[in-house]
Amino acid sequence: MAMASFRILASSLLFFNLVLADCECGYSIITPSDDKRYVFTDILESDFVHLDITDKAQGYGEYGWTPQEFDMSSEVARGPYGQAFTTQNVISNNIADEQIFGGPGVKGGDAGLKLVVGSEIKNGMVPCADVSTTDVHYFHGTFRAGIKVTDVPGTCSAFFWYMNDTQEIDIEFLSAEFNKSNNTFPVNLVLQSQESKDHGFDASKTGDFKTIHLPFDPTTDFHEYRIDFLPDRVLFYADAQLLTEMKGAGVPSTPGNLQVSHWSNGNVGWSQGPPKADATTTVSYVKAYFNSSLKSRQDDYTMRCKDPSAPRAVCAIPDRNATYFFGNVANMTPNQTTYHENNGRRARRWRPLPFAAAIATSTWVVGL
Ligand SMILES: *[C@@H]1O[C@H](CO)[C@@H](O)[C@H](O)[C@H]1NC(C)=O
Ligand SMILES: *[C@@H]1O[C@H](CO)[C@@H](O)[C@H](O)[C@H]1NC(C)=O
Ligand SMILES: *[C@@H]1O[C@H](CO)[C@@H](O)[C@H](O)[C@H]1NC(C)=O
Ligand SMILES: *[C@@H]1O[C@H](CO)[C@@H](O)[C@H](O)[C@H]1NC(C)=O
Ligand SMILES: *[C@@H]1O[C@H](CO)[C@@H](O)[C@H](O)[C@H]1NC(C)=O
Ligand SMILES: *[C@@H]1O[C@H](CO)[C@@H](O)[C@H](O)[C@H]1NC(C)=O
Repeated sequence: MAMASFRILASSLLFFNLVLADCECGYSIITPSDDKRYVFTDILESDFVHLDITDKAQGYGEYGWTPQEFDMSSEVARGPYGQAFTTQNVISNNIADEQIFGGPGVKGGDAGLKLVVGSEIKNGMVPCADVSTTDVHYFHGTFRAGIKVTDVPGTCSAFFWYMNDTQEIDIEFLSAEFNKSNNTFPVNLVLQSQESKDHGFDASKTGDFKTIHLPFDPTTDFHEYRIDFLPDRVLFYADAQLLTEMKGAGVPSTPGNLQVSHWSNGNVGWSQGPPKADATTTVSYVKAYFNSSLKSRQDDYTMRCKDPSAPRAVCAIPDRNATYFFGNVANMTPNQTTYHENNGRRARRWRPLPFAAAIATSTWVVGL
């Protein structure tokens, strides 16, 4: 009798292998070139239309991001001017209504995180803007940003993954390369590697540099730019269309952080400029689905993921949906820190059912 009920309990636990929360075993993509599925365990979704990462009342890294404050001399910047990255040039322009994801923000102009390059040189430096994730645990993953690029010539707008100068994945827009009258809108896709260092950091002399002409004007609307950093390759996309794929020794081998920056140093071979008027590039969101290099995050994953094959244990990441955030859907970001909320509230964290309670419930059901 005791044996029989034990068997019923054991088999019912196997049979009812239900997930406690959707996506508890991660988020998946399928690569377009070879139909392979990749799963990432962790998530960081930053909705810059509703999130104010410049709010001083928030603690450092409260939302996973911080505006940067540092100077680069012209020697280090490798241009005729230095670069002064200043927090004043990072401006949060929010929309109060959480249901509205586009249009003018409270400060006028496009809502989102504005990154400004100033036209007025100060102490030989161009005022620039950069925001970085505060953690450096972003290993393999799919990293997406909604960006409207400046149309003022003479700046570089960049969305990139960074560890150091030889482990870096870049999407870079040079506004001086745009030409509206002949519909030319290039984007530069780059892996900075030991090989590019050996060429004086001129990645165009390596195989890991591609200039792709976009089929749209990136300065008139927000579009989604995306980096898929996989163990053996890096894929670049615009609006969910694959632009190119890079393989080989240039693919980074460490975790890094995510950054969005907007800068100029007057270098005629790259950013050109400085811009004749203040130039603004606006970021509406960054969504990162990734594997964390942190032991604590890996341990959390092992605890919450009971069975990756259970229905809804892994969620497919939608392609290019600017208004879709797993964090806005109940119970799809188990024990994750998604930082999507605004209004001074702390990021919502999912609290799992205590294990004891979950098992007690099963036993009770079987007991019936
Ligand atoms: C991410 O980590 C999970 C859990 O360890 C693993 O199953 C998955 O294959 C990893 N993804 C990639 C792309 O390495
Ligand atoms: C970047 O990091 C990698 C891995 O730790 C290391 O091998 C390389 O030397 C570093 N490059 C620079 C420029 O510091
Ligand atoms: C279009 O403009 C770009 C940038 O100004 C220039 O490099 C390119 O040669 C032009 N193409 C044509 C077909 O005129
Ligand atoms: C833009 O393209 C037009 C047409 O090809 C060309 O006449 C013009 O010089 C280009 N502008 C710049 C800044 O290169
Ligand atoms: C949830 O996250 C916290 C903080 O990292 C961790 O202590 C806890 O074990 C996690 N719980 C589960 C069930 O993953
Ligand atoms: C995008 O996500 C929103 C929010 O969940 C949803 O209402 C909408 O239908 C989605 N759009 C597409 C094209 O899937």
